[in-house]
Amino acid sequence: MTRRKKIYEGKAKILYEGPEPGTLIQYFKDDATAFNAQKKAVLEGKGVINNRISEFIMTRLTTIGVHNHFIKRLSLREQLIREVEIIPLEVVCRNIAAGSIATRLGIPEGTQLPRSIVEFYYKKDELNDPLVSEEHVTAFNWANTQEIDDILATTLRVNDFLSGMFSAVGITLVDFKIEFGRIYEGDYCRVILADEISPDSCRLWDSITHEKLDKDRFRRDLGNVIESYTEVARRLGVMKEMPTVIQGGITGEPT
Ligand code: TMP
Repeated sequence: MTRRKKIYEGKAKILYEGPEPGTLIQYFKDDATAFNAQKKAVLEGKGVINNRISEFIMTRLTTIGVHNHFIKRLSLREQLIREVEIIPLEVVCRNIAAGSIATRLGIPEGTQLPRSIVEFYYKKDELNDPLVSEEHVTAFNWANTQEIDDILATTLRVNDFLSGMFSAVGITLVDFKIEFGRIYEGDYCRVILADEISPDSCRLWDSITHEKLDKDRFRRDLGNVIESYTEVARRLGVMKEMPTVIQGGITGEPT
């Protein structure tokens, strides 16, 4: 057996060559980072939970016609995905002020925004992923105007769907970050949703207590990170077996 080829390693995931051309294997690590990796930890079980939550969400999005890279889950930490050409933007959608918008614009955290706001950040670790405008995106050719239109429409659709899905299980979707990539089909190029959607990339608050159930627990040293991620999975009805999996130790290391 040959060791499979690593294509890319990010802060929380590794991409390996897939079994067929145009596919990749996305491996979810337990590593957690914040503030552009200035803060680091290993949270045992995080990769397993995020693999399942992201699978659940991507599969649900497929059923409402939001095209995305997910093909199928392969193991506890791995999923088969379509290979895309990643657009170098972090697309953030916000419903309630929290995190960087609260600081940048001096809005108290928890304030309902007048409407959902979509922001673009340029994916560049060396620059700390700066906030950019559509002008920058088109001028520097990170995406064209048609792609921006598709990204905006899809992001708002994802927001509507996820807000409803989480609200049904007593969770408020405060904000989230998604990424997009291009796929080429003959003469056509299409933008689809890629990366992951999980408590690492969303702000999720308990609708009644406003308790944080997402990566802010790690960023702000609030403790109980894995317990909160597990609670999100439990409420969504994924990974009913999760507590046993955690207690029994997590397997599924990269092969
Ligand atoms: P922010 O308030 O720090 O700009 O974050 C907005 C949303 O984006 C929040 O749900 C967390 C998510 N996010 C990521 O997924 N990756 C990142 O690197 C950052 C900074 C935020």
